[in-house]
Amino acid sequence: MSSHSAKHPRWPGIIEAYRSRLPVTPETRVVTLLEGNTPLIKAERIPGEIGADIELYIKYEAMNPTSSFKDRGMTMAMTEAANRGGVEAVICASTGNTSAAAAAYASRAKLKSVVILPNGKIALGKLAQAMMYGATVVAIEGNFDDALRIVRELGARPEFAVVNSINPVRIEGQKTAAFEVCDILGEAPDFHFLPVGNAGNITAYWKGYREYHRDGLSKKLPRMFGWQAAGSAPIVEDRIIENPNTVATAIRIGNPASWIGAKEAVAQSNGRIDIVTDEEILDAYRMLARLEGLFVEPASAAPIAGLIKAHKAGLIPAGSRIVATTTGHGLKDPDTAVNSGIARPVVVPSSTEAVLRLLGL
Ligand code: F0G
Repeated sequence: MSSHSAKHPRWPGIIEAYRSRLPVTPETRVVTLLEGNTPLIKAERIPGEIGADIELYIKYEAMNPTSSFKDRGMTMAMTEAANRGGVEAVICASTGNTSAAAAAYASRAKLKSVVILPNGKIALGKLAQAMMYGATVVAIEGNFDDALRIVRELGARPEFAVVNSINPVRIEGQKTAAFEVCDILGEAPDFHFLPVGNAGNITAYWKGYREYHRDGLSKKLPRMFGWQAAGSAPIVEDRIIENPNTVATAIRIGNPASWIGAKEAVAQSNGRIDIVTDEEILDAYRMLARLEGLFVEPASAAPIAGLIKAHKAGLIPAGSRIVATTTGHGLKDPDTAVNSGIARPVVVPSSTEAVLRLLGL
């Protein structure tokens, strides 16, 4: 049931598109930037490149209004905050994308936003977004987990609404991505691959897939395969990581809020949660851009790195249909892009001959 193309020639945002499946009432004033309805792009070259007989689709979440999947949860969280009454500001801890989404949707909701970030560990584009949308940006001398602890404490005050995924309506919004996958494919895939940081998204997708399955809108359930960065893999190592580290700053998290949700998704779906190294992440990052024309941020390449690893380990049966979510746009982290070992621009004199000479012609 492609709810958009037929019923909504103009996509109305995820809350209107999936209203009956979300915690809103007819009176709810919806705060939206028309998020969702992101492309499901068939990978044309990666399966061949890695020698895998699979059908691979990329759920390209960069096409949301603030260029990451966080907008799905944020339309719900901001709608709830705006309708609650008495809220003056929304507050969140973030590795960057949540803060960008919170700041944008707060502008839309006429609320203030306060974002708490780990100093020096936020990709430049995300910081620029939060600043431009008018958030009060607080950079703490600590990591994401420290920021989330502070937010939990501040959230006890009635003037603040917490818009991290510890707020369950965020998960409700994010589950709509699983609905979109099923609506487009007409069925759930065999596998769903995701990066895992705070573990909200894997929890949300699994919830979405289960709801469609329960209601007969899909016949099968996918196996959920989550990927953590090797230096930030608390769930895989089954312990809190005090000083997480990875080039994929979006998933630089040592004590995920939805730890239990991720464990359940993996256990219930006969899935897997495993690590990929920074090197594997950066290889997949360049591969997505070079072979598929998909420029994603490093964390978003983790599931593709994971796919390569899982394929090599013989975990993916031939003929499998796989969806991998790439969670955020590559332009969010221009520093990593230009420093990732790709060719730099070559400076030549301003003449046709000089350009021909450079091209070896
Ligand atoms: N990919 C990107 C680009 C992210 O920004 C995040 C999380 C994830 C993957 C992991 O998703 O946390 O649901 O497991 N970013 C959060 C933030 C932590 O603050 O923007 P998760």
